[in-house]
Amino acid sequence: MARVIATINLKGGVGKTTTTAALAEFMAADFGQRVLLIDLDPQTNLTTMMVGEERWHELNELGWTLATLFEKAVKPSGPDFDLEKALQRNVSSVKSVKGVDLLASSLDLMDVQEGLSHQQYADPLSTRPVEVLTDAIAPIVDQYDYILVDCPPNLGMLTLNGLRFADGYIIPTIPDILSTYGIPQLQTRVEKFADRVGHPIKEIGLVITKYRSASNLHRSTIERLQRDPRIANVVPAWIPEATQIAQSAEFVAYGTLKRKYGNSGQYDALRMLTEDVLMNAQVLL
Ligand SMILES: Nc1ncnc2c1ncn2[C@@H]1O[C@H](COP(=O)(O)OP(=O)(O)OP(=O)(O)O)[C@@H](O)[C@H]1O
Ligand SMILES: [Mg+2]
Repeated sequence: MARVIATINLKGGVGKTTTTAALAEFMAADFGQRVLLIDLDPQTNLTTMMVGEERWHELNELGWTLATLFEKAVKPSGPDFDLEKALQRNVSSVKSVKGVDLLASSLDLMDVQEGLSHQQYADPLSTRPVEVLTDAIAPIVDQYDYILVDCPPNLGMLTLNGLRFADGYIIPTIPDILSTYGIPQLQTRVEKFADRVGHPIKEIGLVITKYRSASNLHRSTIERLQRDPRIANVVPAWIPEATQIAQSAEFVAYGTLKRKYGNSGQYDALRMLTEDVLMNAQVLL
């Protein structure tokens, strides 16, 4: 049975998608894990990172994205979601990465959110509108060791579908004032949601991203987070701000992860991060 981890933060642009993609690639290439990536963000960033924009257009035309799944849930007369066709196998553009699959997102997911919200509003006690993803993926869960769900920067119906499916979550954050604002509130919301749906969602850790060693603010913010009793775990591997990590968003072929992420610290930090997340997930989930 796979362990399912959601990547969340209400703040945009803090490295959620970049961290999720790197975790999947390192889990597969360096730790031999079978990984499924699920892109729940209508911005489709994870999808285009993993398969490129051209392939995304094809998938979207064919209806092989998660938009079809959620559209069907909102409008049952619509086309069926074909999980086997939607499932994109071995997607990473890095040759040494084998065994990362993807369920693609679509810009059309933007419209679907509203339909799901209406369903929830009409029947506030029902958990059906947040169980669409969990129900759909159930048949393939056993094919993976880890399923990573990249969520949009909000707690809307798509993110709630991701959290309902998740056993645990990570919160990537830049160690500055605005990015860390509201993290305890986010944790509380997740806890309340877990109670409501009757499924535990454990906090795996806060992941420090875009860390600048020369910044006093970054260092003091990390110290503050480490002292905060409401935060169970600040993952000890901090991800540096680096051009090569930013460039990882581009869909181009690489031979190895060292080539992709660069050898001046980024590779080691991302590998350590993956090791920490795997260790915590094995203990907690
Ligand atoms: N460690 C890093 N060093 C340099 N740039 C980074 C790093 N991590 C992410 N970036 C860049 O920062 C931007 C935001 O990253 P990313 O898209 O991963 O954030 P996000 O939290 O998923 O954003 P959103 O909330 O819009 O989904 C991107 O341009 C990305 O390439
Ligand atoms: Mg993102």
